[in-house]
Amino acid sequence: MRITDGLVAEVDYELPRRTDDAHPKEQILDASGKLVFPGLIDPQVHFREPGLTHKEDLASGSLAAVAGGVTSLMEMPNTRPATTNPEALTDKLTRARGRMHTDHAFFLGATSENADQLGEWEQLPGCCGVKVFMGSSTGDLLVADDPTIERVLRSGERRVAVHSEDEPRLRERYAAIEPGTTVVDHPDVRDVETAVRATRRLLDLVERTRRKVHVLHLSTAEEVALLRERDLGDLVTAEVTPNHLCLTAPDCYERFGAHAQMNPPVRDARHRDALREALANGTIACIGSDHAPHTAEEKAQTYPASPAGIPGVQTILPLLLTAVRDGWLQLTDVARVTTSGPAAVYGIAGKGSFEPGADGDLVIVDPDVDSPLEAEWLQSRAGWSPYVGVELAGLPITTVLRGSIVFNNGAPTAAAGEPLRFDCNR
Ligand code: DOR
Repeated sequence: MRITDGLVAEVDYELPRRTDDAHPKEQILDASGKLVFPGLIDPQVHFREPGLTHKEDLASGSLAAVAGGVTSLMEMPNTRPATTNPEALTDKLTRARGRMHTDHAFFLGATSENADQLGEWEQLPGCCGVKVFMGSSTGDLLVADDPTIERVLRSGERRVAVHSEDEPRLRERYAAIEPGTTVVDHPDVRDVETAVRATRRLLDLVERTRRKVHVLHLSTAEEVALLRERDLGDLVTAEVTPNHLCLTAPDCYERFGAHAQMNPPVRDARHRDALREALANGTIACIGSDHAPHTAEEKAQTYPASPAGIPGVQTILPLLLTAVRDGWLQLTDVARVTTSGPAAVYGIAGKGSFEPGADGDLVIVDPDVDSPLEAEWLQSRAGWSPYVGVELAGLPITTVLRGSIVFNNGAPTAAAGEPLRFDCNR
């Protein structure tokens, strides 16, 4: 492949036979014996800047991303302050300049106050769209009731990303927590019905408004069945995290305690298997890591005070390569769900493929690394992962963003990230 001026020029490129025939400025990367993917797109990360940068900031989070072969990121609005207006969006874009290692865009968080303005604001450069929290999670963003969600859906036209858990049921269930409840009970506290009820309500609202939505971090077999039954075509896409595909309850909670606690919860093998199948057969369009760093000290608090969230932007590719080794995913599916899949869901321009004219983003993976994943490899400020010790089936070694190496053999080069562009604002 040849990349010129940051863009893919030719895929079947033959190197000049004599090196002195090569263009003097041409840099040659030898990937023989390696796997090469388009740079990964992670459409769901929480980087904590502004407000909680002791957990992560835009520089440290995006460094973890490029170390894992991710070259495009979409960051969630539940920072402090939350990203709920153009000023907060501009603030994030300004902070990102010269500090983020990946290309990037930021979600606007929906609230009852901004619902009617989102349609105008979602078109702003550097914005990837609107995020709705139907149920409370980390931070205070929440749009719990159908009339307000409907106002959000009727304002604007881009695909809306939705955290689908039912707030009234969450309130009931948290109020009923008894002494002695531990993190092992997390999938029961935020139970299957909590997720299914919200997703059913959301699909009703989509039918009424015809607005496109994207259901984030699907966690139940029942929601997969619901998506298939209702079959709303391109109006509804869905995403899953590697955690819901690779961990199972109750053992993940017994082994990792609150380090396996996230919202919606990791559930038992029946759900995991349905999610794996739905990802492999295309019912679920893409992977989002839901990278949600919290410190080990914060995680040490007693449940339910322990915060929910697992860092994961750096481990997507190693975990999916392990899925290929274990036989439940094909290599071509790995590329689909991490590159062309998310690019299509959100209409990201110039990303997610090696087509001539696309951005020259790629990751070179050494498929022969089969050692256990080491904590020292992790770049996130959180410094931990439930996957430390997992036998790898390959490791990203070189990451290229728009034709420039941004991470190579354990070290970053420059922080050259720029705002993503979307088909809707070209
Ligand atoms: O587990 C989670 N953590 N789920 C979310 O929805 C938010 C995230 C966070 O920001 O910590």
